[in-house]
Amino acid sequence: MWAQRLAKRTQRMRPSAIREILKLTDAGSILSLAGGLPASDLFPIDDVAAATQRALATNGARALQYGPSNGLVELREWAAGKRKGAKAEQVVITSGSQQGLDLIAKVLLDPGDRVAISAPSYMGALRAFDPYEPEYLPVDMDEEGILPDALEAVLAQGVKFLYVVPDFDNPSGRRATLARREAILEVCDRHDTLIVEDAPYRELRFDDVIYPPLFELAPDRVVHLGTLSKTLAPGLRMAWLLLPEALVDIVEQAKQAMDLHTSTFGQAVSYELVKDGALETRFPALRAHYRTQRDLLVDQLRDNLGDVLTFDVPPGGMFLWATLPDGMDGTALLRDAVEEGVAFVPGESFYPREGKPNTIRLSFSLLDEAGFREASARLARAVAKHQRAA
Ligand SMILES: Cc1ncc(COP(=O)(O)O)c(C=O)c1O
Repeated sequence: MWAQRLAKRTQRMRPSAIREILKLTDAGSILSLAGGLPASDLFPIDDVAAATQRALATNGARALQYGPSNGLVELREWAAGKRKGAKAEQVVITSGSQQGLDLIAKVLLDPGDRVAISAPSYMGALRAFDPYEPEYLPVDMDEEGILPDALEAVLAQGVKFLYVVPDFDNPSGRRATLARREAILEVCDRHDTLIVEDAPYRELRFDDVIYPPLFELAPDRVVHLGTLSKTLAPGLRMAWLLLPEALVDIVEQAKQAMDLHTSTFGQAVSYELVKDGALETRFPALRAHYRTQRDLLVDQLRDNLGDVLTFDVPPGGMFLWATLPDGMDGTALLRDAVEEGVAFVPGESFYPREGKPNTIRLSFSLLDEAGFREASARLARAVAKHQRAA
């Protein structure tokens, strides 16, 4: 009875592959290379307790009262201070970047509008955009980011915006080179296309190469999303949108209609955690941790699966994108892998339509050395079994 009464937009709300996979990995015996959860050992639990005390002691009533829809001014100033040329008036604090993606789609997309997306793309972004019923136009990538020629062909069809993750992409792990960033902006300029730049992994770099975010290269053309999820803790649900001035008011109104504002209490605590350079002091340890994790996974994959998996070593982030032999299907392999006790995300989940079936995403955020060794051995057994059955 209820099913017939659902709004048409719900037809696009498919069960997320992430959720299904997380369910699998709840079984204690499964070693998971699937989920993208940050390492919980690095959560600053004592610091959060102290920051909570301070937030309540310094202005507890304000932290517990309703607040402005765009966020507490000190947190907006802090977020603006992270990006050259940004002003606090351009910042809207959101409940996670995920809400920022929803807000952007809500104010920009009519049903049938085209959205250019990198192929592959963060599936959570596609799920956020889906209810607004866009048509996705995937843009192929190589190791240096999305391909300008492919982008040209897509933008020529007319799109509302381009969605990209230039730094340590989820799922591909890639970082767009400076030349590629400039080429992307040049094509978008020519077609007068807005860019949505999602940057949750930007600070998790494993080398000293730093390219400017697209926002700093073209502030009038770029919506930039930042978050504390990967550098502090995702449970805070604290993130921000940096918007071209023309979009600020409408996004603020949409945010107000959605939830009035992000938790003032959460914002006050978050500000205590990040102010005076406190967030940045965490970066060296985070980078060292995830770089070590990446190296451990890479070593085990080379030892156990060197002849079946090909991949580039990601220069940052939490994910390694690997290609299986031609003709092997990641989704079919996952079934054998779960039987062997290891999980990953099939690459196909990161494409809106048919993707590259012989790709998989492996997360290096959660296991330890012994876990990576065992997970890789199990994956190798699953591949062998799969090849025998084929
Ligand atoms: C590319 C990308 N964007 C956005 C998000 C969501 O981040 P948040 O926790 O800030 O909502 C994620 C989380 O995995 C992500 O990988």
